Amino acid sequence: MKKLVVLTGAGISAESGLKTFRDGDGLWNGYDVYEVATPEGYRKNPKLVLDFYNMRRKEVAAALPNAAHVTITDLQNYFDVTVITQNIDDLHERAGSKKVIHLHGEIFKMRGEHALDTFFEIYGDINLGDMAPDGTQFRPHVVWFNEEVPMIIEASRVMCGADLFILAGTSLQVYPAAGLIDYLPGFIPKYIIDKNPPYIPPHHNFYIIKNSATEGMKELKKTILELK
Ligand code: APR
Repeated sequence: MKKLVVLTGAGISAESGLKTFRDGDGLWNGYDVYEVATPEGYRKNPKLVLDFYNMRRKEVAAALPNAAHVTITDLQNYFDVTVITQNIDDLHERAGSKKVIHLHGEIFKMRGEHALDTFFEIYGDINLGDMAPDGTQFRPHVVWFNEEVPMIIEASRVMCGADLFILAGTSLQVYPAAGLIDYLPGFIPKYIIDKNPPYIPPHHNFYIIKNSATEGMKELKKTILELK
């Protein structure tokens, strides 16, 4: 089977009712990103940060995968699909995607402050005083700004091996995730689906679908089935 790689961002979960970050009603319009999404902000006010992710965990738990997530799952019948997502929600997995790489962490996982790769499941709230086995406060397994992105090597390896590629619902403003498109082989078919597509240098040769994730994926499925 040909390898289909799909790189997604918050826009793919927008139609599931989860806010994006930088759109008009985006999360970063309501919250100071430095206060709730940096290690410095966490040290300064851990309760504010824990409560922010407790809120997001409740929102994700109440959300359902949408038709865009489901279409990607369908494509597993025709392609060897790997999803690389910047999203911390589990909607790709709940839609049935088997291979999902989370670049920025997962909302239903927590860890201690030192044990970077020892995770524990969490579906409720993390509260101040909830201690991890490494003797530190439990924190959400989310990659904050100024923190390393442990899965980036694995993701770049997957990008190098793609036979066709879809970029869906990301503004490509956050690195190193946004730099992953530079690892794609030059000659493969590449598509972008976004309501408001971000600028991508023409040498990447993307086919642009200016549409919602659900409608765009439906439209694109017909096209790429001819390529299987
Ligand atoms: N269908 C398709 N695209 C959409 C939709 C939709 N229904 N709604 C919004 N979009 C697009 C927007 O036009 C934008 O290009 O989704 C993109 C969302 O961009 P951001 O809000 O910047 O989200 P993302 O790119 O995922 O952010 C990257 O930034 O804040 C950090 O860690 C956080 O993983 C996140 C990273």
